Order: sequence, then C-alpha cells, then structure tokens
Amino acid sequence: MKNDLKRREFLTSISMLAAGTLLPGSAFNFGGSSKLKVCLVGTGVRGTSFWGKRLVENYSDLLVFVGLCDHNAGRLEYALEYMGVDCPTFLDFPTMVETTKPDLIIVTTKDSTHHEFIIQGLEMGCDVLTEKPLTTDEVKCQAILDAERKSSKKLIVGFNYRWSPYMTKIKELLANNTIGKVTSVDFNWYLNTHHGASYFRRWHGLRQSGGTLWVHKATHHFDLLNWWLDSDPAEVFAYGALEHYGSNGPFRGENCRTCEHKNDCKFHWDITKSERMMNLYVKNEHHDGYIRDNCLFRPEVNIYDKMSAQIKYANEVVVNYSLTTYSPFEGWRIAFNGTEGRIEAWHDIPYNDDNNLSQAELHALEMDQSGGELDYHPMIVHKNWNTHEVVQVGSERSGHGGGDIRLHDKIFRNPDNPDPLKHAAGIRDGAMSVLIGIAARKSIEANEPVRIAELTDLQPRAKRI
Ligand SMILES: NC(=O)c1ccc[n+]([C@@H]2O[C@H](COP(=O)([O-])OP(=O)(O)OC[C@H]3O[C@@H](n4cnc5c(N)ncnc54)[C@H](O)[C@@H]3O)[C@@H](O)[C@H]2O)c1
Repeated sequence: MKNDLKRREFLTSISMLAAGTLLPGSAFNFGGSSKLKVCLVGTGVRGTSFWGKRLVENYSDLLVFVGLCDHNAGRLEYALEYMGVDCPTFLDFPTMVETTKPDLIIVTTKDSTHHEFIIQGLEMGCDVLTEKPLTTDEVKCQAILDAERKSSKKLIVGFNYRWSPYMTKIKELLANNTIGKVTSVDFNWYLNTHHGASYFRRWHGLRQSGGTLWVHKATHHFDLLNWWLDSDPAEVFAYGALEHYGSNGPFRGENCRTCEHKNDCKFHWDITKSERMMNLYVKNEHHDGYIRDNCLFRPEVNIYDKMSAQIKYANEVVVNYSLTTYSPFEGWRIAFNGTEGRIEAWHDIPYNDDNNLSQAELHALEMDQSGGELDYHPMIVHKNWNTHEVVQVGSERSGHGGGDIRLHDKIFRNPDNPDPLKHAAGIRDGAMSVLIGIAARKSIEANEPVRIAELTDLQPRAKRI
C-alpha cells in the first residue's frame, strides 16, 4: 500500500515536471515492481554521483537501479562499486531497455548524444529524465519535440539551479511585481581559471560534443532568465571568440600527466592526486581513448572562451548577457531594471563577499552533495524614489547553492508539494534554454540576429505556458 502510494506520487511528479500535456495516471505502466525501476545511461562523474550514489543513498525506499549502460566497459564496472548497486550492466542501450524494462531512464551521457537516448527511451515506452542541456542543435531539438509528442511518456529536464533558495527569491520578487514591469536585464557569469579552464580539457572543448559553452553551460543561465522573466526568447544577437585557450596557448603537451611544460604551465592539473578521477577516467582510458586531463591548449579546441549576447524576449524585455571563462574568480551578477525600481543580485564576487576561501575550495563546496551549513547572501531591492533595501537569503553552498537537493526531493520524495513559482521544468523549458545558445552560435557565424521561431516549430510566447 505504502509503495503503491509512492509510485502514484512519482506519476504525479512526472506530470508536474513536464510542461507538455498532462496524462491520466492510468496511462503509465510500472509493471509488477513495488519500487520505481530506474536505468541510467552514461556512468561518468555526474551519472554515478548525483544521479547514482546520491539516489541510492537517499531514495532506495522508492527506487531501484535495474540497469546501467555506458560505452566504456571499465567505467561501467567502476560505477557498480561506486554507486553500491549490483544490477546488470550493458554496452548497448536498446538491449538494456528491452532486458530490464525500466519505468524511468536517466540520461547522463555527453551532451551531443542525449537525443539518441531520450528518443529511443520514449519510443521504447519509458519516462525519461535527462541532464541539461536537452540537446546541442536545433535539428536534434526538433526530433526530441516530435518524439515527445508521439509518446505517451514524459520527459523531465534536470535544471537544478532554479531550485536554490537564492534563485527562488529572485523569482518570488519578480513574480510579486516588486519593481513593476521588468524592461531590461544585465547578466554576467564569470568562470574562473580552475572551473572555466576545466571545460577546455574535456569533451566540452569540442563543439561537436557539447555544442559550445553557449549550450553546455549557458543553458543553465538561459533557463533561469526564461523562468525569472516568465517569457520566451524571441531573438538573439551574439559575439564570441576563442582567444585564450586552444591554439592560443604558448605551448602544449599530450596531457597534464606527461607534459614537459608541467613546471611552466599555470593550468597544470595533477589528476593522479584524485583517486576518484583516476578510477573513473585514467584507469579506463584504454577502453575508449578519452583523456580527462587533456591539454587545454590543444589545437582541436573549437569552442568560444569569450561570449556576449543580446536577447530580446517576446514580452519586449532586453537582456545583455556575457560569459567569461578565465576570470580570476568564479561568480555572477545580475541586475533587473523595472518600471518601478531595480533588483541587483550576485554570488561569489570576492570584493562584495567577506570570505577567505580559495577558488579551488569554493568550487569543491559547490560540487559537494553533502548538504552543509547555511550561508547568507544579500541582494538589493531598490524601488524608485526610495532608499535601497538589503534582502538576505540563506542557502547551502553545496550542490549548486542547494538546488541539487531540492530538485531530487521534488522529483522523488515530495512530488505533491505545491509548485506556485513553477520550478518544475519540462521539455519546452529544456528546448527554449538551448535554443538561445544555438541562436547565439548561429548569430556569431552569420553576423546577424537569429529568430528563435526559425529554429524549431516552437513559437515564442510573451507569457510562458
Ligand atoms: N546539472 C548540472 O549541474 C551538471 C553538472 C555536471 C554535468 N552535467 C551534465 O551531465 C552529463 C554528463 O556529464 P559528466 O560530467 O558526467 O561527463 P562524463 O564524461 O564524466 O560522463 C559521460 C559518460 O557518458 C558516456 N558516454 C558518452 N557517450 C556515450 C554513448 N554514446 N553511449 C554510452 N555512453 C556514452 C561516457 O563514457 C561517460 O562515462 C552532461 O550532459 C553534462 O552536461 C550537469
């Protein structure tokens, strides 16, 4: 009885999180299992930790892993041990789905392959939960939209940032019309020489794998903007360049481990110091040739390291956005201008925040999933003709500002909790956020504005549905 209730709760969560049509509960079939049967494809760092070990440790009363899939046999073996599960493993995705008949498939492969597993998963009769970004180009995006419309199953996009208390406070202030109608936004995101640089070492440095940081990284930021402004993007004009990493570097080597420039390179990263990185990647290089501590000055790098865009929304809001990848510190700031005032918010601007943590320590805390202490972060609400007010918001530093934990709880533990600020994200949210990045890429290539409506059959709306 208790498990039946849990399963019904999960059904509700799927329909709440999907922005498309709602289906009656009877449309779902969970077979005879008393727990949600989950398969995961892509047993890399995100799959085995956030969507793996963390689910096993916190939600085993509700779900059971019935299959893991990856094209790297060594990483699959390591995933079993790291996650603490003993389910079968598969190199072939359709065989896994046919054999294990899961209720839910979690997709955590590299970005350019998400569409394969989303589409096949839906076609094979499973609900699908995908990591961001939904996908990397407009053709794949349209194929996902078509597959979801044909399927009776649902697709969830794991947007974790929305769920942090700080981001939620911004949404609440805007939804309450605190500064009247928002007319323009300035949004700047700074990736530092640790985290920002790491993208250029990995598959993320190739646009054919991650769609450039316009898609891989900025999908988070564009999703926040779409959600905060409660409108769809209509047009994008962008500039971008690769001026720092890739072939711009003064020297290069095979990888950090063997590099003769170890002592001269400020970006040198010793992967051998991390047991987890060694087990996950280095020990399994011979299976697929993927080098995790690749040289960030290798000439194959073909993404932008400097990005700037103007986004015009269907409700006439104009956004100035920029993304930097070699900042001395990692943080962001945003300002909303409204007809009745202004909101300024920021995170981790060292000159504004009073902490002594190093950039490496801050990044480790951000990625940590253990919960942790509450930190208080200010934002400014300044109404026209008034003095400004400082609003303090408490949030965890770990797991994307507390967003990761809240996203999991919403999906698996408390799906029936009310969602007045519409945190739950579905396919339209996933699509609209990547379409801004895809439009930005196209705009740089064509040197002209790109209309969102021209990319897929989704038509931008002044107020989101
Ligand atoms: N929401 C967040 O904050 C967040 C954080 C980190 C990563 N991510 C997302 O999670 C996903 C995984 O990222 P990661 O950092 O774990 O990368 P990773 O390289 O560590 O893992 C990817 C895994 O997918 C496997 N893989 C790749 N292509 C495959 C294919 N065609 N078939 C089977 N297996 C395949 C690889 O072997 C690897 O094990 C990405 O989409 C990334 O954008 C999201």
